[in-house]
Amino acid sequence: MLLIASSNGDVGMDAAWEILAAGGSALDAVEAGTRLVEDNPADHSVGYGGFPNLLGEVELDASIMDGSSLRAGAVGALRGYRYAITLARRVMDELPHVMLAGEGAARFAAELGMEREDLLTEPAAQVWREGIAGRLPEQFRDAQGAVMADLLRRAAGLATDPERAAGTVNFIAQDRAGRIASAVSTSGWAWKYPGRLGDSPIIGAGNYADSRYGAAACTGWGELAMRACTARSTVLYLRQGMGVEQACRAAFADLDDLGMDPAKVIMNMVAVDAAGGFTALSTADGRSFAFRRDGMGSFDLAPRVYVAPRGL
Ligand code: GLY
Repeated sequence: MLLIASSNGDVGMDAAWEILAAGGSALDAVEAGTRLVEDNPADHSVGYGGFPNLLGEVELDASIMDGSSLRAGAVGALRGYRYAITLARRVMDELPHVMLAGEGAARFAAELGMEREDLLTEPAAQVWREGIAGRLPEQFRDAQGAVMADLLRRAAGLATDPERAAGTVNFIAQDRAGRIASAVSTSGWAWKYPGRLGDSPIIGAGNYADSRYGAAACTGWGELAMRACTARSTVLYLRQGMGVEQACRAAFADLDDLGMDPAKVIMNMVAVDAAGGFTALSTADGRSFAFRRDGMGSFDLAPRVYVAPRGL
């Protein structure tokens, strides 16, 4: 058995491990771990307490993948329901679709009887008010139509990398039966343009699992992982026979083709292979991740492998 997560997944590691240790599925484990991060109001980039979009509304993205059946579920730009990961799983389990977004996602949550709530906490609202509302023209909140659209376009340049606010959460588990599952959840970039989707709900970009080869999940600048299909590429590199760190490095090297200023490339990945190997990489120095495998009495934090982006 194996469980790894981005470091902010620490609050969910024990609950997820208990499920694995009791013989439960990797899918149940990654969902349970992720829900506890979505519950954590101190984490301003996931679930309840997440930083809002430009308009002050919290919009959540999440996805889950069952590497044994290659089934997947995702929700994007979900408002008013904190357990985005559970809704993603219900999409996978109960609909003939992979992804629901916006009002449709909220409608499905309501139909399932999920609790509707305001996800914007006062501390997150305060940062938004001071950081964004105060930097926009006074007429911003009351603007209509084209005026609003223009203001939003200009303000989107103020978007803040969620990694500076603790990061999207990734979980990957391999259960006793060797099944691998992965889960990703986020409130996305703080002050994002309303409706913006990142890589987290995009299967293949921020999340991919295939029990035959392994799994990968990303945090960081979602637009880059979307353009390079980073999670799926990593699993394909594993399929081609690379080791898990080599596969991650190859997927990171793909980002160098995107023509970015290296200083702006922000990418982090956790990955496992089918044999129980695992690693985590980051383009930032000093980042860590959480892991637990058979024989350990509790989870541990370990440093990520630092990869300097070459870019341009
Ligand atoms: N990687 C999370 C995001 O870009 O929204």
